[in-house]
Amino acid sequence: EPHQGEPRSIVLIGPMGSGKSTVGAALARRLARPHVDSDHFFVARHGPIADFFRGHGEQAFRAEEERLVAELLDAPRPSVISLGGGSVLSAATRERLRPHLVVMLDLTVEQALPRLGDGSSRPMLGGDPAARWAETYAAREPLYRQSADIVLDPADGTIEQRVDTIVAQL
Ligand code: S3P
Repeated sequence: EPHQGEPRSIVLIGPMGSGKSTVGAALARRLARPHVDSDHFFVARHGPIADFFRGHGEQAFRAEEERLVAELLDAPRPSVISLGGGSVLSAATRERLRPHLVVMLDLTVEQALPRLGDGSSRPMLGGDPAARWAETYAAREPLYRQSADIVLDPADGTIEQRVDTIVAQL
């Protein structure tokens, strides 16, 4: 059992397209820990995120995301947790991140764009994915950085190398 105040889970944060789900899955395999992804958890409960946004709006999405993320972050079992890109907008979520080892996957818009497809499954990118990605990144970058213990540039190496970098800092 981890001691009070010791990092419990490893939590991956960062912008859309930064590889939080891919790196999280690889890291979890390496550490033989469970991997949970807040977007997958959301979809399992509520169906596609784009549909939820259309039906209920962003504010309702954020409220439900905060609730589901709290379940993941407060679970006692040490795991690897990948969070949706907007999770850090919640001050309550940022507070819940504190006992964990938090890793920001950083990247540029040029790196992100080819990984976002046409953006249709990501309601925050509607209309002009490049412009919307850059806007949301600018607004959230300080929140990612202030929440992170480690900042990784995804341009630096393969998924397995990024996993190595994280494991080396445990
Ligand atoms: C969002 C990011 C998405 C998903 C939702 C909203 C955001 O997660 O939670 O579409 O506001 O940045 P990814 O970061 O996994 O794309």
